[in-house]
Amino acid sequence: MSSELFVYVVLPGRTDFVTAGRLVLSTDRLGNPRGRFVYGRRYLERDDAVALDPLELQLEDRTFETLRMNGLFGALRDAGPDYWGRRIIERHAGTAALGELDYLLQSPDDRAGALGFGLNVEPPAPMRRYNRTIELARLQEIADALLREEMEPDHSDHIQAQDLLLLGTSMGGARPKAVVEDGDALWVAKFNRPDDRWNQARVEHAMLRLGQECGLHVAQSRIAQVGSRDALLVRRFDREHGEAGYLRARMLSALTLLRTGDSHRDRERWSYLLLVEELRRLCADAPGDARELFRRMVFNALISNTDDHPRNHAVIAPQAAWQLSPAYDLTPMPQVSLERRDLAMTVGDLGRRASARNLVSQCARFLLTPDEAGDIVNQMEQIVRSRWYQVARREGVSERDCEAISSSFVYEGFRLD
Ligand SMILES: Nc1ncnc2c1ncn2[C@@H]1O[C@H](COP(=O)(O)OP(=O)(O)OP(=O)(O)O)[C@@H](O)[C@H]1O
Ligand SMILES: [Mg+2]
Repeated sequence: MSSELFVYVVLPGRTDFVTAGRLVLSTDRLGNPRGRFVYGRRYLERDDAVALDPLELQLEDRTFETLRMNGLFGALRDAGPDYWGRRIIERHAGTAALGELDYLLQSPDDRAGALGFGLNVEPPAPMRRYNRTIELARLQEIADALLREEMEPDHSDHIQAQDLLLLGTSMGGARPKAVVEDGDALWVAKFNRPDDRWNQARVEHAMLRLGQECGLHVAQSRIAQVGSRDALLVRRFDREHGEAGYLRARMLSALTLLRTGDSHRDRERWSYLLLVEELRRLCADAPGDARELFRRMVFNALISNTDDHPRNHAVIAPQAAWQLSPAYDLTPMPQVSLERRDLAMTVGDLGRRASARNLVSQCARFLLTPDEAGDIVNQMEQIVRSRWYQVARREGVSERDCEAISSSFVYEGFRLD
């Protein structure tokens, strides 16, 4: 298991890696994993150097230390794979006994954000060739085989190492996905699972459009037909094609901004109220991003996107300055309860409760007056109520699927508290 690595970054406006610093994992006297990071001297001397995380890894000549998350700093953890990507790497390595750094080292260079990792002080050349959209059918086949393996452990599909390499992606998230290039842009392809209860690709696509109608700044998306099935393509907002290759934006998840993790113990800090404080400290357009976050929170409540955990929010820095990323991963979750629904993060005075009153209860933190906040909620409620069905049908969600998700929209309890 590796215990140290170099961290590379693609600086704003450039397309190649430079070495930013070194991470060393060790254990403290009690045996707890501890991570230490130092920026390289040469990196600190550059005029164009940027911090990997302006809140936790400031551009300074000192040793940063963390005991959290097995010694992995949030900014580095965000660049690593989570459930789906780890699964591919473990399958490829033939073992699940990998260290945190192995996941970073063994993942392909299509990871979210501007960072890269390696064992050499000299950075590698950036990835030049990506899967193309015409390869989607093959990619979906391999993803399906991997899912079958998961659902029926005895099943053997003879997935080859080169198949896994082809599929390999280090984007986060739990759903099966790959990264594909189409024209001059990179897209995250999210595949439907055979055991999905409805056509997730179409539904998520429709939710992005509905979000846009509600005034949200959303990621661009489209549907690709792969054989008889649909896949959702979401345009990557952390990559932009330039003359010499892909420019990259640094990216931090809200999990990192909140200095927290995925586990249940960490949940106390999963909060829109804490997140908006961080946005106000970090973002160039603090009032704009604070209001945008308010709208996203309201939208999630209105469509019962109760899986709005902090990895589903991020900030990006295409240049030196930081901004809230476009909205992504918007999925309705129809639930049994009609009276009460909770979001994944704290919303207001009544905790995580997804109700109109709770949403506006802490509006000042989002730099909104009670009138402004109330107007936004009313307006968005009207749009979701009157438009969700039409938007969904227009984007090809079937009548049956609409029925399956219909109880997600402006549920009864929204105005009941
Ligand atoms: N358009 C995009 N551009 C850049 N990065 C993205 C984009 N969409 C998603 N990501 C990154 O990829 C990760 C996974 O994407 P997404 O949340 O859509 O997948 P998922 O598998 O549905 O996630 P979950 O585990 O929340 O269900 C996100 O957390 C984010 O870091
Ligand atoms: Mg997600």
